[in-house]
Amino acid sequence: MLPFKTLIKIDRKSKLPVYQQIANGFIGLIREGVLKPGLPLPGSRVLADQLQLHRNTVVAAYAELTSQDWVVAVARKGVMVAANLPLIKPRSFKTTTSSYAQGPGFHFNTIPFPAMTSLQPLKAGQLVINDGFPDVRLAPLDAWGKECRSIIENPRQHKQLMYGEAQGSEKLRHEMIKYLTNTRGLDITIDNIMITRGAQMAIYTAAAMLIQKGDYIIVGSPNYIFANLCFEQLGARLLHVPVDGDGIDVAAIEQLCRTRKIRMLYVVPHHHHPTTVTLSSERRMKLLAVIRKYQLAVIEDDYDYDFHYSSAPILPLASADHGGNVIYIGSLTKSLGLSLRIGFMIAPVSFIAEAGRRRRLMDLRGDNLSEEGLAAMLANGIIERHLKKSKKIYRERRDLLCHLLEVKLGDLVQFTPPSGGMALWLQFTGNASLPAIAAKAATQGLLMSSGSNYHYIAKPQHAMRFGFASLNEKELTAVVTILTKIMKR
Ligand SMILES: Cc1ncc(COP(=O)(O)O)c(C=O)c1O
Repeated sequence: MLPFKTLIKIDRKSKLPVYQQIANGFIGLIREGVLKPGLPLPGSRVLADQLQLHRNTVVAAYAELTSQDWVVAVARKGVMVAANLPLIKPRSFKTTTSSYAQGPGFHFNTIPFPAMTSLQPLKAGQLVINDGFPDVRLAPLDAWGKECRSIIENPRQHKQLMYGEAQGSEKLRHEMIKYLTNTRGLDITIDNIMITRGAQMAIYTAAAMLIQKGDYIIVGSPNYIFANLCFEQLGARLLHVPVDGDGIDVAAIEQLCRTRKIRMLYVVPHHHHPTTVTLSSERRMKLLAVIRKYQLAVIEDDYDYDFHYSSAPILPLASADHGGNVIYIGSLTKSLGLSLRIGFMIAPVSFIAEAGRRRRLMDLRGDNLSEEGLAAMLANGIIERHLKKSKKIYRERRDLLCHLLEVKLGDLVQFTPPSGGMALWLQFTGNASLPAIAAKAATQGLLMSSGSNYHYIAKPQHAMRFGFASLNEKELTAVVTILTKIMKR
C-alpha cells in the first residue's frame, strides 16, 4: 500500500474541513498520475488507521470524491480511481478569431440610450458630480454583512436561499409595513407589497401592466429619463405637462383628462427628478381629487422620500384617499448603497398578485439573502439610526454646497435649495454652454453631466443635477473650485 500518511498532508489549523483536505489530497495524486484509473484505494478503516483519524472522516472524504466522479464504489471491491476522470482538457489553440468578435447575422431591437456620467464605472479617487446618490462610505455595510453571514452560517435558514415567493421575503414585507406606516402613514397589509430590485424594476413592472401600444400617458416636463424611456418602449404616447416651483401642473393634468382617454400618470411628488421641486400641498389635494374623479391610474415614484431636511415631509399621495388608484413605488437603494437592489411597490392586492406573476418573467425571485439581511436591520433599528445620521450629514453637505455656489459662482448660476433629496438643480445663467463646461471639467479630473441626460424629448435644459450627498466637505470644495476656475476664466 502506498504511504498515504506522507502523501496526504493534513493541516489541523486550516479552516478547510479535514475530510475536504483528504479529498483534495487524493485529487492531487490522481491529477499527477500517482494514482492511476482503476487503482483500488484502501478501505476506509485501513486508511483511517494510517492517518490516525476517525473512520467517518475518511468515509466523508470518499463520498466527496465519489460525488465529484474522481472515484467509484464497486460492490465487493471497494473504492477505486474512476476509469473516466473528470479532467477538463484545455481547448486546443486556434488561430481563428472568436465567433463573438463578429457581430450577429440577425437584427435585434435597440433603444435610445443617453450617455450618463452617473452610470459609468469610476476610477479610484475620481471626482464626480453624480445625479444625487448616497455616500456608501456612511452606509452600515458591516452590519448588513453580519446579518447576511448569520443567515449563511445557520443551516435552519438555508431555505431562505431557495426561490420562494415572487413578492419577496415575508419577513422583509412585515418589517416594511411597520416602516412605511411609521414614516408615511400608509395603511397596508402584506399582500399590498412586492419587494423589487430597486424602484426602477417596480416602475417597469407597473407600467407594463398598464400600458397598451398607443395609450396616452402623462409625465412631467422635464422628467426622469429612465421612466420616459421605459414608457416609450412599452408603446405609450407621452403627454408632457410642465413642472414649476410647486411641482407638476395639476390644472394641465385635469385639462388632459377632460379631453382625452388617459391611461396613466407618472408623478415624482418629492424632490422631482430632475428639478428636485416638491409638489405643494395645495396641488396634492387637487391632484387627489382628479385621480378620484377620473379613476386615473398613477405611478407615484417616491424614490428618496426618507431624505427630508427642512420640515416634516408632505405625506405621499398613497397615504391619502385615492380610491385605490395609486401605485406607490420607493426604494432602499438610496439608504444603503445603489447596488443593494431593494425597492418596493405598494398597490391593491390583485395588482400586486399579477405584478408577482409578471416579475417572474424577468426575475424568478429577488435576492432573498439581501432581503432577509435588510429585514433584520429594519427590525433591530440599524436602518433608522443610519437614516438619522446620514440625513444630518447630507443636510450639512447641501448647506455647504449652496454656500459655496453662492459665494464662488454668484450670478453665473441659479438654484433653489432643495427641501430634501440628494441633489440640487443647478441652472447655468452665464454664456458658457454646459457641454463646454463639462468637457473642460473632464480635462481637470472632474466628471460631470453635460445636461443631455435631462432633455430627452423635452426642451434642452441649460441645467444639471448636482448630487451633493456623496461628496464630503473637502470634495465639495474641490469640485466647486474646479467649476469656478472654468467658469470665471
Ligand atoms: C426618480 C427616480 N426614480 C427611480 C429611480 C431608480 O432607483 P433604484 O436605484 O431604486 O432603482 C431613480 C434613480 O436614481 C430616480 O432618480
